[in-house]
Amino acid sequence: MIMRAVLFDRFGPPQVLHIASAAEPHAGPGEVRIAVRTAAVSPVDLALRSGDSPSRDGLALPHIPGVDAAGVIDEVGAGVEGFAVGDEVFGAVDITRLGGASAQFAVLAFWAAKPAALSFEEAGAAATGVETATRALDLLGVANAKSKGEDGGTTLLIDGAAGGVGSIAVQLAVARGARVVGTGRPESHDFLAGLGAVPVAYGAGLAGRVRALGIPRIDRALDVAGAGSLPELVDLTGTAESVVTLADFTGPSHGVRVSLGRYGGQPDGNHGLAHAADLATKGLFRVPVQAVFPADRAAEAHTAAATGPRRGKTVLDLTGLMPQVPQA
Ligand SMILES: NC(=O)c1ccc[n+]([C@@H]2O[C@H](COP(=O)([O-])OP(=O)(O)OC[C@H]3O[C@@H](n4cnc5c(N)ncnc54)[C@H](OP(=O)(O)O)[C@@H]3O)[C@@H](O)[C@H]2O)c1
Repeated sequence: MIMRAVLFDRFGPPQVLHIASAAEPHAGPGEVRIAVRTAAVSPVDLALRSGDSPSRDGLALPHIPGVDAAGVIDEVGAGVEGFAVGDEVFGAVDITRLGGASAQFAVLAFWAAKPAALSFEEAGAAATGVETATRALDLLGVANAKSKGEDGGTTLLIDGAAGGVGSIAVQLAVARGARVVGTGRPESHDFLAGLGAVPVAYGAGLAGRVRALGIPRIDRALDVAGAGSLPELVDLTGTAESVVTLADFTGPSHGVRVSLGRYGGQPDGNHGLAHAADLATKGLFRVPVQAVFPADRAAEAHTAAATGPRRGKTVLDLTGLMPQVPQA
């Protein structure tokens, strides 16, 4: 069967995106298919569309972008337990297998029940940020100090704290009892403080600005931005083992671990979606959404997602792709 999707059939600027027909995907074993309500625009979507991604050679065109999505289950694959047709869920597709989520239907590789506390716009923007942040915090050993009853948890510096991954990492670290220092451009500092971080300006000279905050020590550092700060982060923590980068492939030359997850050929950890949903229900977690665009304005959405200041995610509302029921 044929569905409608936002897709591109050649690499190029945002204007290569258009709505067209595509084959419907179906849920395989261990997967669910959703009727998509919302899908987020992520840096990987921008890089694949422009052709800048090293993955472009293996990419089948036309390609439907979109990794994170939320919607309503309409097919349940073999072996899936605890979920049924009609359940509202949020999660992520495996873009290397069946294409992306900016379509009428998408197959999720991992997911959780959408809590009422998150709107479809928020839920559709959550999965990659939650999975990535959970993986990075686990790798850094940012333990849940609150659950262990310890005094003053880890002090964590997050470089690139206002974006899609960073804004979620700040909140998940705070929920673990960490004290968080987050970098952003000055006009994003109120936003960062609202997430629970002590804000500081990003860019060269970071170590000096962090020391000027008077915080006694930085225990761990997470580089989300990949903007060249690794030597300063190692300087601040005192050891490369206390630093993880998500976006700087020079990491190993500084002794710093690069965490890439499933697309980097590394095993998935605990994706943390159900935990984040539980935190949202308790009022301890939200998904910052900067802007929502309808499907027929996907090119504008890709332009917005590439333009600072970026605070949280840009989202596509895909409900307009559904066939319109004629009014009686
Ligand atoms: N390894 C993984 O598993 C994994 C998973 C997801 C994403 N990523 C990668 O992680 C990176 C961030 O993803 P994202 O979704 O958070 O991107 P995003 O939403 O575009 O956010 C990027 C953030 O970085 C900030 N920034 C810009 N220049 C900076 C600088 N010089 N120093 C520090 N921060 C700076 C931006 O602020 P302004 O907009 O205000 O300039 C923005 O808030 C991307 O490269 C993405 O591909 C990796």
